[in-house]
Amino acid sequence: MVARLIDGKVLADELRAAFKTRVAALTARGHCPGLAVILAGEDPASQVYVRNKVNACEAAGIFSMKIDFPPNVSQETLLAKITELNGDPAIHGILVQLPLPRHIDEAAVLEAIAPEKDVDGFHAVNSGALMQGQPRFIPCTPYGVMKMLEANRIDPAGKEAVIIGRSNIVGKPMALLLLGASATVTVCHSKTRDLAAHARRADILVAAIGKPRFVTADMVKPGAVVIDVGINRLPPEEGGKLCGDVDFESVKEVASLITPVPGGVGPMTITMLLANTIEAAQRRAEA
Ligand code: GUN
Repeated sequence: MVARLIDGKVLADELRAAFKTRVAALTARGHCPGLAVILAGEDPASQVYVRNKVNACEAAGIFSMKIDFPPNVSQETLLAKITELNGDPAIHGILVQLPLPRHIDEAAVLEAIAPEKDVDGFHAVNSGALMQGQPRFIPCTPYGVMKMLEANRIDPAGKEAVIIGRSNIVGKPMALLLLGASATVTVCHSKTRDLAAHARRADILVAAIGKPRFVTADMVKPGAVVIDVGINRLPPEEGGKLCGDVDFESVKEVASLITPVPGGVGPMTITMLLANTIEAAQRRAEA
């Protein structure tokens, strides 16, 4: 079997085209959606992600504000900026790009964002709501994965879903969303014994560990749906290209559906950020 591709770019473009109408309607009523993106430090990957987010806003007609801080920014300065943005009526969404410099208390910064502007869905109020099955803002990457499954008519109900990775950004919210969709969910991580045996049971396998080509064909059940969340840059001696957490070339021979890197989950993450920002503006307009 050779897997069919789940094309995240095509789905993202479709969704973004539909957003334009919603944004135009909100803007006409005086509620142009606005997103503030905070970047602290000089991590090259973060700089690319933030630029892509700001450009995507512009293309969708969403107002965006990029706020750069040097790597030695103080916690007080970051918190003061968040407080200011919490009170800014032109801003409906606030995103602090992670990771933050090591001297910053990440949890304190994320908790300072007003929950109704937390378009990343990382605030305890929003992660708690998700855990209780009443999501308000869903973290963008797992939200995008759920949209990709839905668009490909994959109903997780009753299926074995195995997630490799337990981060707050992807693994944990992904587990809650799949559980909410009635999958039987296993979360594997660095201490899991015989991870390959768990992975081989998966009908839906989500790789979110940040290790290039970690998932190989022998870890995949024939016919499984394989979702690759990884975005890794290979070293120059291996060509310096982007690659996922899945060994695409071997796994595509075993899986029934697979997401490529690039062009899979990545474009959907940004799309769901736009969706959450529009939703935040809509709620504000209706408040
Ligand atoms: N760093 C990696 N992924 C993300 C994300 O989804 N949101 C933020 N804020 N930072 C990230």
